[in-house]
Amino acid sequence: MNFDGEQKQRVSTIEDIIKKFIPPIEGYQKTVIEAMNYSLMAGGKRLRPMLMEETFRLFGGSNWAVLEPFLAAIEMIHTYSLVHDDLPAMDDDEYRRGRKTTHIVYGEAMAILAGDGLLNYAFETAVKAFKMIGSEQANEELADYKRVARAIDILSMKSGIYGMLGGQVVDVEEYNGYIDRKRLDFIYQLKTGALIEAAMMIGAILAGATDEELDTIEEIAGDVGLAFQIKDDILDVTSSAEVLGKPIHSDEKNEKTTYVTLMDVDNADDEVVRISERAIKAYEALPYKNEYLKILINKLITREY
Ligand code: IPE
Ligand code: IPE
Ligand code: MG
Ligand code: MG
Ligand code: MG
Repeated sequence: MNFDGEQKQRVSTIEDIIKKFIPPIEGYQKTVIEAMNYSLMAGGKRLRPMLMEETFRLFGGSNWAVLEPFLAAIEMIHTYSLVHDDLPAMDDDEYRRGRKTTHIVYGEAMAILAGDGLLNYAFETAVKAFKMIGSEQANEELADYKRVARAIDILSMKSGIYGMLGGQVVDVEEYNGYIDRKRLDFIYQLKTGALIEAAMMIGAILAGATDEELDTIEEIAGDVGLAFQIKDDILDVTSSAEVLGKPIHSDEKNEKTTYVTLMDVDNADDEVVRISERAIKAYEALPYKNEYLKILINKLITREY
């Protein structure tokens, strides 16, 4: 498989879908819509919608119209988390996705509101999935309604105080104190893991996966998220702003405990390999195949940005 070519194509398809759901830049409130657009369309790896789509494919999902709003919604929530994460009161970073951060361009008040706007609009978008249901036989239609309702439940839970936001809370609260590995893992499982879990679980739910399969997917996604955040810590030390599109040494500036300070780069890298391999093993135990998804998870180990 020409993975890089396939990946490019997928990113482009995902961006076309996101564009379909973007609100028009008009009305008295158009500045906030422009700011939402600015961060959302700045690029980025689009990993979460990609994982959602590939998990949907893994379980043989067929109703793509119902999936689409969720692909856009998860990227809106992720983007909101980045806009707020970069604020002066949080990590105080000036670059994101190769551009000046939203608060640098639009000011802090508008960046806070753009983040809020993206979070809210994510749910305005997700509920549009209900309108995409139709024309099947009555029993299939009811199953789709239930799946969409469940997907919205997961999306809300995994974004909030028991998910991404909860992780960010512990992340900012403890930045001057000593954090042990257990607490750090808690932070990573929530601040980064939870949205990746949501992405893969929603793909599975909408494709009709069983409860047992959903548990397996949650576990795999949790490991992917944990490994992804450890790699993010490493890249903050070993990469460059040009390659990452965001500043390096942000963690050091904020005196963060990370996997790199807890161990060192080499040992942190070993953890990325160990945790990712655990995810691949769990994936391989499933009776379904999606070669692209498997390569994608593997590639996250050696990713450079
Ligand atoms: C950055 O996420 C924040 C983390 C959870 C590490 P990504 O590395 O997926 O950022 P984009 O979406 O590609 O910009
Ligand atoms: C961010 O962790 C996690 C979320 C935005 C939820 P980081 O603060 O390490 O992410 P980057 O490095 O700024 O992308
Ligand atoms: Mg942060
Ligand atoms: Mg940050
Ligand atoms: Mg980071």
